[in-house]
Amino acid sequence: MRRRTAALAAGTLAGALALTGCSGSGSASAPDRAELSVDSAYMPQPVSADMAAGFLTITDKGGAGDELTSVSSDIAGQVTMHSTQGGAMTEKSSFTVPAHGRLVFRSGGNHLMFEKLRRAPKQGQTVTVRLTFARSGHLTVEMPVEPATYHPSTGH
Ligand code: CU
Repeated sequence: MRRRTAALAAGTLAGALALTGCSGSGSASAPDRAELSVDSAYMPQPVSADMAAGFLTITDKGGAGDELTSVSSDIAGQVTMHSTQGGAMTEKSSFTVPAHGRLVFRSGGNHLMFEKLRRAPKQGQTVTVRLTFARSGHLTVEMPVEPATYHPSTGH
């Protein structure tokens, strides 16, 4: 429910920004570049000592898309990106973030895999995750570690 409210509010805000852009003030809206933000990030406390999964949603409010090209973290020697289709997961070298859209990593779907763990993430801690995009540069996310069985209630 909270997610739905936030999405409606964001839609209203985007409309207001578009109007501002029409008045000629320039940079208020971004018709030709991505405007990325991240929410709903979490890591279920891993059962395994050397691997963990992570999930998040990347939203692009801008008029151009972008590509998530790599992910890194302080706790992992390597972070890989996977898609899941028909129960089979495939490692991907990049994911598209659509203009005015979202790229969603969630349980059972796209996910991040933290490999070669330097420490075991524990519930209540946060993990620093650095996302690299083809055009927008870097975004750093503090990803909370949740219980192993945690499932977020999502609005989508
Ligand atoms: Cu995987």
